Amino acid sequence: MSTPNFLRFPDQFTWGTATSAYQIEGAWNEEGRGPSIWDNFAHQPGHVRTGENGDTAADHYHRWAEDVALMSEMGLKAYRFSVAWTRIMPTGTGAVNKAGLDFYDRLVDTLLAKGITPYPTLFHYDLPQPLQDAGGWPKRETAQRFGDYARVVGERLGDRVTRWITHNEPWVTAFLGYFTGEHAPGHRKPQAAFAAAHHLLLSHGYAVQALRASSRQPTQIGIALNLSPTYPASPTSRWDAKAVALTDGWINRLFLDPILKGRYPDDYTTSILWRWMERGLYRSIQGDDLKIISPPLDFVGVNYYTRGVVRYAPLIEAMQIRPSGSEYSEMWEIYPPGLYDLLMRLHKDYGHPNLVVTENGIPVPDRVDADGHVHDPHRIRYLSAHLAQVHRAIAAGVPVTGYFVWSMLDNFEWVHGYTKRFGLVYVDFDTQARIAKDSARWFGQVIRENGLTSV
Ligand code: GCO
Repeated sequence: MSTPNFLRFPDQFTWGTATSAYQIEGAWNEEGRGPSIWDNFAHQPGHVRTGENGDTAADHYHRWAEDVALMSEMGLKAYRFSVAWTRIMPTGTGAVNKAGLDFYDRLVDTLLAKGITPYPTLFHYDLPQPLQDAGGWPKRETAQRFGDYARVVGERLGDRVTRWITHNEPWVTAFLGYFTGEHAPGHRKPQAAFAAAHHLLLSHGYAVQALRASSRQPTQIGIALNLSPTYPASPTSRWDAKAVALTDGWINRLFLDPILKGRYPDDYTTSILWRWMERGLYRSIQGDDLKIISPPLDFVGVNYYTRGVVRYAPLIEAMQIRPSGSEYSEMWEIYPPGLYDLLMRLHKDYGHPNLVVTENGIPVPDRVDADGHVHDPHRIRYLSAHLAQVHRAIAAGVPVTGYFVWSMLDNFEWVHGYTKRFGLVYVDFDTQARIAKDSARWFGQVIRENGLTSV
């Protein structure tokens, strides 16, 4: 391209959007689907701030064909969705539900027919309730059950699916689920949360084995991690530097190091977190676990929304602050250079893995205008600014091979219910009507031109 400020992406760059099963599918008790921990959690009052749940969500289970047609109109090269374990194995183990497998089978075939590469994720928070009743992720058996489930899905779809993601944000599963209690199953047991982290990692390893064994063509397998580059509140404070190391160790390295280096970080032994880690995580390690956790991966998925800024605080050691003078979305600070810093760091510290931005997006209080359209210039600005940082990292030599917008559709945003709209496509949750937002057309143009004009 000749215009100086046109940011051209590499040929074959993968442009996609992402969703997850509980957030969009609905049909929570149809065609053999069993209950997951999110069904139970959201059905109990007090957990989701709005009292809402995913029973109907965006009704994608019934409207998937219309949704795939919208993807096709946008010209998507790839679509990342998650498979609901409880549709495949309603109790998490044993009997397989044919209707559930058929659903994803049709979805995959239709995507492929439209030239859209499916990127299924095997787990996005929706653990089968019976497995939680037996102890959930803090129990080792859950990791084995996940391996079994991965094999069933791999055997059914592995003749056509060539891209897999094992887990989505295992940090969130472990620590929001079992430590802060903000997510299902709502427990507040730090040691159990660290045990859960280990078993999630172990289950990732089992799933990689199962997927490799069932794939019938060259297949790329990765994991999607919520990674947050962390900065000190005061760049000159030695104490704040300690808070940064601790936060980075807990959020980023606790998952990156075992997966990509085959060992856990052990440099925050003075902290209170360490005691829980010793009792919860170290005691859960058996035999060859770390080998199982660290087979070669084809890509690392990066979910990026914002950065962390921390300062040292007595007792809790690290405290997140909200930097003043920054721009904020409805949920977080907007900090595009953090994505560049993160990609560079992964490249440098982890042996140059292939990287895919598996989520990036912004909640905006979108509404349908008098002209019938949804104008979302904020989202376009946010995504453009982040894409410019991805481009900058590629120009610096980092192999970033794809970028997925979170999200394809407005959906159920966990504890926020339906109040946070992340979609490129607007959903009217009363009628389930879809309206492509301005950002959907903008993204379509980015895909057609394989790049964008930097602003
Ligand atoms: C994830 C996220 C998504 C959210 C998105 C916006 O774990 O991938 O939780 O499910 O909807 O990150 O918060």
